[in-house]
Amino acid sequence: MCGIIGCILSSGLVAPILFSGLKRLEYRGYDSAGMATICEGKLYLKKDSGKIDDINARLNFMDMPGSLGIAHTRWATHGAPSRENAHPHLDCSGRIAVVHNGVIENFLELKRELEDRGHRFTSRTDTEVIPHLIEEGVESGLNLYEATLQAVRRLRGSYAIAVISTVEPDKIVCARNESPLIVGIGDGAYYCASDIPAILEYTRNFISMDNGEIAILSLGGVEFRKISSGEIVSKKSFTVDWSVELAEKQGYPHFMLKEIYEQPLSLRNALRLQEQYLDLLSRFIDRGERVFLVACGTSYHACLAASYMFSKIAKVAAFPVVASEFLEQYGDSVGIDDVILAVSQSGETYDVLRAVDHARMKAATVLGLTNTVGSTLTRISRAYIVQQSGPEIGVAATKTFTSQLIVLAQLAMKVANLRGKLSQQESDHLRDSLKSMPEVVNRVLNSCADNVKLLAKRYAKKNLFLFLGRGINVATALEGRLKLLEITYIPSLAFSAAESKHGPISIVEKGVPVIFIAPRDSTRKEIVGNIMEMKARGAEIIALCEEDDGELIGLVDHHIPMPKGVPDILSPIPYVVPLQLFAYYVAVERGLDPDKPRNLAKSVTVP
Ligand code: AGP
Repeated sequence: MCGIIGCILSSGLVAPILFSGLKRLEYRGYDSAGMATICEGKLYLKKDSGKIDDINARLNFMDMPGSLGIAHTRWATHGAPSRENAHPHLDCSGRIAVVHNGVIENFLELKRELEDRGHRFTSRTDTEVIPHLIEEGVESGLNLYEATLQAVRRLRGSYAIAVISTVEPDKIVCARNESPLIVGIGDGAYYCASDIPAILEYTRNFISMDNGEIAILSLGGVEFRKISSGEIVSKKSFTVDWSVELAEKQGYPHFMLKEIYEQPLSLRNALRLQEQYLDLLSRFIDRGERVFLVACGTSYHACLAASYMFSKIAKVAAFPVVASEFLEQYGDSVGIDDVILAVSQSGETYDVLRAVDHARMKAATVLGLTNTVGSTLTRISRAYIVQQSGPEIGVAATKTFTSQLIVLAQLAMKVANLRGKLSQQESDHLRDSLKSMPEVVNRVLNSCADNVKLLAKRYAKKNLFLFLGRGINVATALEGRLKLLEITYIPSLAFSAAESKHGPISIVEKGVPVIFIAPRDSTRKEIVGNIMEMKARGAEIIALCEEDDGELIGLVDHHIPMPKGVPDILSPIPYVVPLQLFAYYVAVERGLDPDKPRNLAKSVTVP
């Protein structure tokens, strides 16, 4: 997720406005930044890697001339943080500048096509294909709007772009598909930005762009058109009375809630990975004599779920290992024939890096799955995948967990196909189910929130919770427990429901809330038995179960209806969502700040 901003003024310098907008967008990405302005027919460009203030101290954005410009702050997904990969990106002639937030799925084929026609690229980003596509339109005689329209019609994937050119120095063209983009209307000024905070101090009058729309900003006003047909679209403006702080959360009270609701988009972006990287990692995994999935915390729970995916889909035994225990548990036996897939949102977790360093020393193949391009994990892995979730500000991992799951499911599927373990029908069904996940999660978010909020209010004062699941949903139970534990500080237990009789059931007494993750999967018969044994001891049962599961609904005190037909091995993706919301609303009920839980940091980079 990156931040873009554009502005055209009737008079005065645009650079200070762009700079303050970048600062307001910094939470959307902060590994590199840049700005382009136009003055007297000349394009000025400054960009570099690093934090915005550091870049400004080196390059001084403020002295850029002109009343029209664009700027960008980056969260790298393609190409490490560097000056070359920072936005804005230019065409060959240096007359066209583009900033972009999103993921262009088909950039490799477009890049090859453009290079074959002589275009020279200077970065490893997906974005850079856009100015070169526009350049071709302009050179064929199209105006900036027409050339941009022609270019975006070639793109597949998510984008919010802003384009300026010395060819038409009095216009900004912007376009949107999935990545957010709003237009601001000021007094003798027009703006476009990834979201409201960037320009809230200059105007409170906005128009939000919808998917598939393109807009032309000039001092004469803003014209909106449909990308598909080019027909003009009339749009209604709205005003906001948010504080800037609230606006940074797009109106959500906390980043955690915003990020929970971002999951349909982050899952779509996790389904837009470059096939070549999925192929590369799956070939390494396929060759491994033993496969270890190494991580901490929430990422470990993703690895635990993935061990079921690799076994059930690819018939591969992949061992989930808590990173801090890897050296003790496998340090003496890991060797050259083994593969370590390290999973780390930050790519900087000390225990993960320590385990990886040891595995490398023992000549094992180290692979990485992370959300942070340029992180240490990406530099020490033989190959890695970036999950493309965008920055996660809340300390509690939410969208990055479900994205890790869907990437790991794609990897398990790739390995299965390499090994011939899936029929065409099974492969097609699994692929379609993966593609449906963003919409399934969207449905869960829309259907369960009120119910979960009521349950959180009802149980917020409880001092013990149990989270139980079976099969792959043991991982979901552990993750739901961790969410509640880390942001509400309520002692909670999570374990396989089958383990109850081996000790934990002694803690259950009348009124203890027990949350069951109970999809109608292969463990169904056993979990009904587990529910009964908890009910017999007076527990209050909350079940996440399929919306028409009358038998189970009749057994429990409360239930959260879940969509039917989710394949077992993908069930943690939708089933964790109500648990994320439950933890969030219990924390709010208890007057706690879910974004900043006590004693915790977003990334644990120390032993
Ligand atoms: C999860 O909500 C926690 N913030 C924590 O457990 C986290 O998942 C863990 O520290 C691992 O972080 P990583 O994915 O960046 O390695």
